[in-house]
Amino acid sequence: MTDRPVDRPLDPDLWPATTTVAADGSVSIGGVDLRALAAEHGTPAYVLDEADFRRRARGFREAFERAFGAIGTEVDVYYAGKAFLSTAVARWAVQEGLRIDTATGGELAVALRAGVPGDHIGLHGNNKSDTEIARALDAGVGRLVVDSLLEVDRVADAAAAAGVRAPVMVRVTTGVHAGGHEYISTAHEDQKFGLSIAGGQALEALEAVLGRPDLDLVGIHSHIGSQILDASGFAVAARRILELRARLAERTGHLVREVDLGGGYGIAYLPGEAPLDPARVAVEMARAVADVCAELGTSVPRVSVEPGRAIVGPTTVTVYSVGTVKPVVVEEEDGAFTRTYVSVDGGMSDNLRPALYGARYSAAVVSRDGGPGAVRARVVGKHCESGDVVVHDVLLPADVRAGDLLAVPATGAYGRSMASNYNLVPRPPVLAVRDGEVSVLVRRETEDDLLALDVG
Ligand code: LLP
Repeated sequence: MTDRPVDRPLDPDLWPATTTVAADGSVSIGGVDLRALAAEHGTPAYVLDEADFRRRARGFREAFERAFGAIGTEVDVYYAGKAFLSTAVARWAVQEGLRIDTATGGELAVALRAGVPGDHIGLHGNNKSDTEIARALDAGVGRLVVDSLLEVDRVADAAAAAGVRAPVMVRVTTGVHAGGHEYISTAHEDQKFGLSIAGGQALEALEAVLGRPDLDLVGIHSHIGSQILDASGFAVAARRILELRARLAERTGHLVREVDLGGGYGIAYLPGEAPLDPARVAVEMARAVADVCAELGTSVPRVSVEPGRAIVGPTTVTVYSVGTVKPVVVEEEDGAFTRTYVSVDGGMSDNLRPALYGARYSAAVVSRDGGPGAVRARVVGKHCESGDVVVHDVLLPADVRAGDLLAVPATGAYGRSMASNYNLVPRPPVLAVRDGEVSVLVRRETEDDLLALDVG
């Protein structure tokens, strides 16, 4: 038994790379003491470690370049902006050699505002509007990923009207179902994304694209799910796509030059969980691509991937202030125990994932060392809903109390990007920390911002 606080040490797979803990137990990220940051900028706040973001982006690219270089082809890494996008983050990604994947007109607008060259941007979406298609063509995006037969015609017509040839990829479903939760698994067949290989619609769409002179078929796309911790699905999906590519070539003589194997690389959320290692996946994926192409007698295509979570997820923590602390006696069959409800000044409006997916997180007090002893805690928000849980079950120091700063790690992906104004709570800022400096990437919303929309 040691008297070390129960929430120490901080697991390096969960906390941003530059996280340090001082002798008094206070935590700094990017050389910034979170107490000073909270005093100046308030809580809740998303705190993003810029150096870690850059390191992960670069590491991903280098690992994939190495693995695919070894099989004689090139690879592009598109950062999936849906995980979190701001102009600064888009610029960092591009500076580290990545491109940007967008899913809506809003994400496209941010990438363009950041100065990302159009031909380094991809646009997805199962229901793109005419405006989104026109804007993407106008920006000269490198790829529009078409998601239905109807869209083949819509994009071709828009390209003809704009007098351009549209670069398109066709999004297919491979039947591979991978990842954390039904809502975030996208390549099984009974859902809205993509065109089925097994059902024949994928081939039909590819042939339809080749039949339209206003379209340039640049690739076949697959995204099999998100928060994937078992890499084997990627290789199976790659095989099915490459077989489809060979089949199309047999029928039409056109060998598609690129395949995109999507995103989905899982990260650790709880202590002891092992994230997927991008370097290992890259090698396995490259081997699968090389083997299947050799077997089919086709040349190896250019490859692209679209990680979002694995790049930004672990770079960010959400810092909250503790308010009400309330012990609740819970009766269970084998006896009663006390659960300590620790309320913080945010909740499901800044992190919807626990409520939506049952996602699990951890937490630690970051403003001081806790005393000895632990309580079994549930961190909850301030919303008018009992499902407003931030951390389901975590051991916190027994003396956790109002005024403590509590941080939840690994909230960089799908945290701010899925935040809402439920209960008219203004959304927290995103603060980048680096070399002892804080810069505001996205400022805190104010009640005036909320009222500005209320024009009735
Ligand atoms: N590419 C496409 C076409 C996607 O649909 C996605 C995610 C990605 C790339 C990036 O996937 P990632 O590497 O981040 O797993 N809101 C959910 C995740 C939804 C993912 C949707 N698509 C969550 O919070 O878990």
